[in-house]
Amino acid sequence: IRTSRVSFPGSFTAECARQHTLKILFTMPIDWETKLSASARRRPTNALKELCAPLLHKKGMVLLGGGLPSAQAFPFTKISAEFTDGVKVSLSEGKGLLSALQYNAGGVAPLREWASKLIAAKVKPLCEDWEVTLTAGSSDAIEKMFGLLVDEGDVVFTEDHTYSAALSNIRGYGGVAWGVAADHEGVLPAAFEEEIERAKKQGKTIKALYVVPIGANPSGAVMSPGRCKELYDIAKKHNLIVLEDCAYDWLQYTPDRKSKDVPGLRFGGFLPYDSDSRVIRLDTVSKFIAPGLRTGWLTGPKPFVRHFSKLSNLSTHCGSAISQSMVLSLLQQWGEEGLQAHIEKLQRMYQTRRNIVADAFDQHLKGLADWRVPDAGMFFWLRPKSLEAEKKDSRSLIPILLKHNVLVVPGGIFKAEGSDAPSPWLRLAFSYATDDDLKKGVEKLALVLKESAVASEEKEKASSS
Ligand SMILES: Cc1ncc(COP(=O)(O)O)c(C=O)c1O
Repeated sequence: IRTSRVSFPGSFTAECARQHTLKILFTMPIDWETKLSASARRRPTNALKELCAPLLHKKGMVLLGGGLPSAQAFPFTKISAEFTDGVKVSLSEGKGLLSALQYNAGGVAPLREWASKLIAAKVKPLCEDWEVTLTAGSSDAIEKMFGLLVDEGDVVFTEDHTYSAALSNIRGYGGVAWGVAADHEGVLPAAFEEEIERAKKQGKTIKALYVVPIGANPSGAVMSPGRCKELYDIAKKHNLIVLEDCAYDWLQYTPDRKSKDVPGLRFGGFLPYDSDSRVIRLDTVSKFIAPGLRTGWLTGPKPFVRHFSKLSNLSTHCGSAISQSMVLSLLQQWGEEGLQAHIEKLQRMYQTRRNIVADAFDQHLKGLADWRVPDAGMFFWLRPKSLEAEKKDSRSLIPILLKHNVLVVPGGIFKAEGSDAPSPWLRLAFSYATDDDLKKGVEKLALVLKESAVASEEKEKASSS
């Protein structure tokens, strides 16, 4: 910014001009073309699909173009499903069956519209330049998203421990996953600023912040609106993209373990603060309906969504239209009230399991470990006291736990700096096991941690004598 060539009246100093220019720059929507990876910029569109898809339903058009199989060749007459609450969904001829079985550019449009309405009404993005595209679940979206953004050496900041599939994709595209210290609300703003400066000093290209704002995997952290806003402002100051993976917004719990209340349907994250279209949000039905459906959606700035859809048209075609039609039909029959009731039922079930584990930890693990009781998601995050010393790795406990037939995951798997890096943390999922198994698992964990505490005490004594 060359303020020296401009003459400003009176007390309008060069610093004033600099601040003014920065303000203008930072309230402008970001230039997505400068953020995309080289492969994203290079990739041509699916020309065949672009020509044929818009003409597919044009009246009077003789379709000799696309390689579509004949509807008469589909060996289905009906696809139907029954749900636990009595809702029945059925796709039959004239009722969505043939379009669900056919190639389907962009996925099932009414589901996309349903998701857009949900985002507008409940998440309330601040910017206007956003749209929704369907995905084959968040794993699909994560892989594509990093492919579209990350070039060799680009830095993506994350919590110091984060979702391992995101890390694999960042690294797979040659990026650097750069861990930032975190607390029970996720990434710490001061540490984020420090790490950005450190990366800049090393001459790195800083690209994005990837977070799981509600019920983080693995740490269980829940970002408050204040934390999201603070981190957003830092990302904006340094022109970073924010990638928010919102798989667990649906699974939120009441902190008070005695309460039978549940929070119900509510969403967190960064979109409500996104003044200049730099946030990409991922949602999935995996945790609130079923992962086998492979259905989700991405919300983001239109220029990015255009590139994302282009990639989808060349790969997954936005996922299975059969799954999407089933999900749509279920959501339509539920309506908002039915969805609320379903989410509350789920939250009650998982909240009870969370409380069982929290009570068992209080009973068996006091003095043996430190932990967080999560208010969202599926995971307890705990650090055995025997591993407190710097550089101790929880991986040493895994074979002993396996001998007791208990599986928990070592924190190292989620470590941003690399899965070989030591981490004293353990991740324990409370979502899957039965109530009895949860209690049994914690008892066995306590047994192993006691043995490990005794062993490390003896080691210390031997080394000091
Ligand atoms: C943070 C996070 N994102 C995404 C996923 C995967 O979601 P999907 O089943 O939609 O691919 C998971 C699943 O464990 C997750 O924990």
